[in-house]
Amino acid sequence: LTSGKKIRGLLLILVANSNGLKKNLKIYNLAAAIELLHYASLIHDDVIDDAEKRRGVLSLHKVLGKELSILAGDYFFSLVTKIIFNEKNFKIFKIFIDAVNSLCKGAIDEIYNKNNIKLKENEYINIITQKTASLFQISSEIGSLLAKINLSDYENLKKFGLYSGIAFQIKDDILDITADEKELGKPTGSDICEGKITLPLIKALKNARESKKSEIKNIYKQKKVLENMDKIMYFIKNNNGIELAYKEAERYVNMAKKFVMKSKIKNKEALIQIADY
Ligand code: FPP
Ligand code: MG
Repeated sequence: LTSGKKIRGLLLILVANSNGLKKNLKIYNLAAAIELLHYASLIHDDVIDDAEKRRGVLSLHKVLGKELSILAGDYFFSLVTKIIFNEKNFKIFKIFIDAVNSLCKGAIDEIYNKNNIKLKENEYINIITQKTASLFQISSEIGSLLAKINLSDYENLKKFGLYSGIAFQIKDDILDITADEKELGKPTGSDICEGKITLPLIKALKNARESKKSEIKNIYKQKKVLENMDKIMYFIKNNNGIELAYKEAERYVNMAKKFVMKSKIKNKEALIQIADY
């Protein structure tokens, strides 16, 4: 009922079409596989996060319970493997399975770093690269393989997917703080509530005066995040956390676009637009 933006599948289709290849069933099957993998991971993610809502409606485990939701995620994942198996292409199979591996490692790392106020910017980037950008990257890679794009442009488009994906997750983490519940489809500040350390907070900590910084660090050390949500949100906004994170997202968008421009593919416009989006 709430299928979302389907941006990963769209990315695969656009890259596959970027050199003039006509739309065909193979492209759509693989785009569907990427989206199903994404859904499977979100269903599990909502169980892990005990999320109340997803895309404006109750999350699946709030309707079906945890048992059926975990199995629904597994079932979707089995459909993904079925689709890929039917393609009989080892290269594509390896790309997919490496991404699943990254997704899991990113999700595990994120949990290990809950409430870790010492998390560094490069460690955060590493987590979002694994849990989010990996799927954007493989959408580009698989699209490029289908379009039989040459090796150097394959590398350019792979980077385009990677950097778009990093920018996408930074923006997602910014919206968690700045957007309202209706726009987000879930309560504002969910990440902070869950103890996730995201880029706006990391940037604000770098920017803040020592006394304010220690106050926030103490909240995390004493595990009093929930009682201090307003204070943390105010701290992020008041110390330029949003603007600085946004700049970083823009930097990744520009890098993504640079790699599209560098490539020799025919239709660059749609990819530039998707990066801007
Ligand atoms: C959403 O991030 C979660 C992910 C992008 C990946 C989660 C990965 C797993 C649970 C492991 C892989 C599972 C399978 C079935 C292969 P978020 O919490 O920042 O986004 P949100 O705010 O939309 O919840
Ligand atoms: Mg989540």
